[in-house]
Amino acid sequence: MCGIIGAVSQRNITKILLNGLLHLEYRGYDSAGLAVVDEHSHINRIRCLGKVQKLVDAANRENLIGVVGLAHTRWATHGIPSEINAHPHISEYIIVVHNGVIENHDQIRKKLISYGYSFSSETDTEVIAHLLNMKQKQYGGSLLQAVLKSIPEISGSFGMVVMDSRKSSTIIAVRIGNPLVIGCGMGENFVASDQLALLSIANSFIHLEEGDIAEISCNKIAIFNVMGDIVNRNKVKLNIHHDHISKGIYKHYMQKEIYEQPIAIKNTLLGRCTNKEIDLSELGINIGMFLKKVKHIQIIACGTSYNSGMVSRYWFESLANIPCDVEIASEFRYRKLQVRKDSLLIALSQSGETADTLAALRLSKKLNYIGSLAICNVLYSSIVRESDLYLITKSGIEIGVASTKTFSTQLTVLLMLVIKLGSLNGMHIEVQRKIIKAIQMLPYRIEQVLTKDKIIEKIASDFFDKNHALFLGRGDHYPIAMEGALKLKEISYIHAEAYAAGELKHGPLALVDNNMPVIVIAPNNQLLKKLKCNIEEVRTRGGLLYIFTDQNVEFRKNDDYNMKIIQLPYVEDVIAPIFYTIPLQLLSYYVALIKSRDIDQPRNLAKSVTVE
Ligand code: M6R
Repeated sequence: MCGIIGAVSQRNITKILLNGLLHLEYRGYDSAGLAVVDEHSHINRIRCLGKVQKLVDAANRENLIGVVGLAHTRWATHGIPSEINAHPHISEYIIVVHNGVIENHDQIRKKLISYGYSFSSETDTEVIAHLLNMKQKQYGGSLLQAVLKSIPEISGSFGMVVMDSRKSSTIIAVRIGNPLVIGCGMGENFVASDQLALLSIANSFIHLEEGDIAEISCNKIAIFNVMGDIVNRNKVKLNIHHDHISKGIYKHYMQKEIYEQPIAIKNTLLGRCTNKEIDLSELGINIGMFLKKVKHIQIIACGTSYNSGMVSRYWFESLANIPCDVEIASEFRYRKLQVRKDSLLIALSQSGETADTLAALRLSKKLNYIGSLAICNVLYSSIVRESDLYLITKSGIEIGVASTKTFSTQLTVLLMLVIKLGSLNGMHIEVQRKIIKAIQMLPYRIEQVLTKDKIIEKIASDFFDKNHALFLGRGDHYPIAMEGALKLKEISYIHAEAYAAGELKHGPLALVDNNMPVIVIAPNNQLLKKLKCNIEEVRTRGGLLYIFTDQNVEFRKNDDYNMKIIQLPYVEDVIAPIFYTIPLQLLSYYVALIKSRDIDQPRNLAKSVTVE
């Protein structure tokens, strides 16, 4: 989604802004722009359709200089991706960059037109620039006053940063619905929608809270609420270094992140999983008593996080004996809900900023849940801050738009929670120990399955000319089939669907012919016999079978032209869903590679989906 960076300094900040935008590229965007103001209040703006590098080249050609400025990567919502619609938007001396959606932009636009304003773009953002301009003219006063007067007239969600070129020592940041973080420097300050944009220039940060308005100058940061009253916010230091965000020896971030899974899981387990028990005391001293009360789990999430919730449902119900429901957050938030007694709401999100999940979490606060727990990869994210409890997945930063290590670490945390709840719910101590032993093996098991990389790369070439694919799984591997299909469609643009294998003959079987790849997740478990029947159904219709299975499982006539068997090392049943995800991630990666896709930034997608 859109990315923002702003800077106020006494040195030329053009390079800082461009560098910041390069670090925001991973979020997904279609155009970029920058405006800087020099010491003579002169505004220099450049915008372009496409990659930030084009903007960098243009800025170098024009030798842009400015001590204060704003830059933006745009992910189109209102108005097509184009140079004219790219931010920043300007109304005389007012400059605006904005993330989010202004819901009443039509109404405001009509009013502004009646006052004589004219529009050069199709965006909702341009109305903010003109509205601020109008307020300043109507009431005089500072830009801050104009912002305070404008906010009540704007509905929707907006993280925005604005400035007045005539007073080029201050920028104003507003957080309503979309996150912003201030990066504090020496004699200069910055603001961005994502702290990754600020890592090379600041090491202490202020995370704005909902409704905060910050007036930022070189030596002063003042934060107000929407009423204009001063509020205090903490400054925090972050321990993230630049080398964490480089590709290292890998071609793509996604590839690097797939390979980081053993260490990401080790870090996630550290301090929480001992040989004997799961220790979640980070949730507070009374957590045992609290969890004992939980009689139902309601999970809300989107995309890959939803798929991990779906896997955990099988675990909660079969291992911890606790009923669990999982719902897509955008559905949950718009229907009449019947809340079960003593239900704990779990919000799953790698970014912690997904608009629908955040809105569903906020809605849950008004309902009768006994509490909310976030499982998230970003410590200071909105979902973490607004949940009663949180468990952080320790994946490290994930840059590739396709979630990989955040999925496997979410599952790792969920499985620990299952054991914890199970132990309070009468799970036999031997069963607990057995699962704990399996979880401890997980990093090693993933290292083992990663050695199949070359085999999977070879198979990927079969998909070069394919337009469709089916993924099949049963039990807790059905959501893994869903995740496999999501990964494939997302980065290779091959249309892929997942089915519970038993559903095949209820419709999707009609799609199967000798041009349809059918990927089957077939671990060596109690459902294998049933799955083998489904495999036969595909085989007799000529479908191209790709079976991911255990090395000890035998299939009839392995050398069939239409059946490829990818033998994987042994894995314990309970952790098999996490393990079987890895070859599917690799498959998508290599298919996207041979199709020359933009793997880390697939078209139309964003890392952090901050609009509903
Ligand atoms: O940040 P979240 O986990 O809340 O994001 C939800 C989805 O947008 C996300 O999982 C998306 O489906 C993945 N990036 C796909 O790989």
